[in-house]
Amino acid sequence: MNGKPLVYLDNAATSQKPRQVLEAMDDYWRKHNANVHRGIHTLSVEATERLEDARKKVADFVGVKDAREIVFVRNATEAINLVAYSWGRLNIGRGDEIVLTVAEHHSNFVVWQQLALENGAVLKIVPVDENGEIDLAAFKKALTKKTKLVTFFHVSNVLGTVNDVHRLSGIVHRKAPRAVVVVDGAQAVPHMPVNIDSIGCDFYVFTGHKMLGPTGIGVLWGRREFLEAMPPFLFGGEMISKVSLGRSSWNELPWKFEAGTPNIAGAIGLGAAVDYLTALGMGNVRKHEMELTEYALKQLGKIDDVIIYGSKDSEKRGGVIAFNVGPVHAHDVASILDSEGIAIRSGHHCAQPLMEFLGIESAARASFYIYNTKEEVDKFIAGIDKVVKVFKLRSTDYSLRSTAVVSSQ
Ligand SMILES: Cc1ncc(COP(=O)(O)O)c(C=O)c1O
Repeated sequence: MNGKPLVYLDNAATSQKPRQVLEAMDDYWRKHNANVHRGIHTLSVEATERLEDARKKVADFVGVKDAREIVFVRNATEAINLVAYSWGRLNIGRGDEIVLTVAEHHSNFVVWQQLALENGAVLKIVPVDENGEIDLAAFKKALTKKTKLVTFFHVSNVLGTVNDVHRLSGIVHRKAPRAVVVVDGAQAVPHMPVNIDSIGCDFYVFTGHKMLGPTGIGVLWGRREFLEAMPPFLFGGEMISKVSLGRSSWNELPWKFEAGTPNIAGAIGLGAAVDYLTALGMGNVRKHEMELTEYALKQLGKIDDVIIYGSKDSEKRGGVIAFNVGPVHAHDVASILDSEGIAIRSGHHCAQPLMEFLGIESAARASFYIYNTKEEVDKFIAGIDKVVKVFKLRSTDYSLRSTAVVSSQ
C-alpha cells in the first residue's frame, strides 16, 4: 500500500476475509447455485442445505440452541430496524420510554430516535463515565414502569468499552419489567466468546463482514416467543405460508422474516467464517487482541501528545483505540499513516452523539484483529511519531482537551 506492506488497522469498520471464506462462496456459485426452499431438483436442495447449515453454524457459534431464532438479514443495521418496525411500532406508543446510551453507533441510535419522533415516545439517553462505561446510577434512574425498550452496545466501536450485558439485562428486567432488551453485538461477536442464551436479553444483533464474513449478511437473534408474536417486516415470496385473493398467512420462523431470495452465498460465507473463528477459538482471539491492545496503549501512552478515549485497562476494552494527536485533525493523522501503508479510521465513527458528548469533532481509531501483529503496532506507533514530527508538536503549544471520558497520557 503506497509502496509499503499494508498494515490493516481498520477492523472495527470491516475485517479482511480468509481464503476459506472466499472459497466457500466460490464453491457455492460454481457448483451449487440455485434458488432455495422452493425447488424439488437436486441443485436447489443442495443450495437449501448449505444455507440452513450456515444458520445452524451461526446459532452454535453464539450459543443459541434453536436455530429458528436466527434470522438472516443484510447487516446489524437492518436487524435493529426489523425490531423497531415489527416489535417497536406495535408496542411503543405515546409517552412510552426508550432507554439507550450516548455511545451507541448511529444504527442503534437513529432508528430509536426516529421511532420516538414518529410514535411520540420519549428517548432517554444515558451518559458514560470517565472510563467509557455506562453510568450505572443514571442507567438505573432512567428505568421506569414506562420503559418499553432498552438498548446498549456490547462493545463500543469508539471507546472499546466491554459492557457487562448480562448484568445490565438483569437490571432492566428487575427495574422495568415491561421492557425488552436489545443488545448491539456488532463489535462483540467477531472478537470474543459470546453466549446469547446466557445474557438474558430479548434481541441481539450482529453483522457478518466484521467477523471475516462477506458484506450483505447479518443476524438478528430474537427470543422465540417475541419473534412468533411479531408481524413480518417485509412482505413477498418466501415469507408466506398461504396466499389467497383476499388474505395471506405467514411462514414459520425464521423464514417469516426473510422475504424474497436471501443472500445465499453471503450466509454460506458467514458459515465458513464461523468455522474459521471456531477453529482458532474465540478465547484465543480475545487474548490475542487484548495483548495487542495492551501493548499499543502502553506505546501510545509514551507519546506526550496523544489523547486516548475510554479505559486504559485492556481487560475492560475490546481491540479498539480511539485517540487524537494534540490539535491535529484526525483525517491528517490518518493521511500520514496511509502514506506509510497503515490503514486506520478517522472521523465521527458513526457516533456523532458521543463525539458531541466528548466535546470533539472527530477522532482517529486503530482497531485490531486476528492477523495483526506486535510488529504492526510498532509501525503504527512509528507513524504517530511521524505525525508529531510533521506537525512539530510540543505539548505546551496547546491544552489537552479534557472531558468526562478523556484520559490524557
Ligand atoms: C457498534 C456497531 N453497531 C452497529 C454497526 C453497524 O453495522 P452494519 O453497518 O454492518 O450494519 C457497527 C458498524 O460499524 C458498529 O460498530
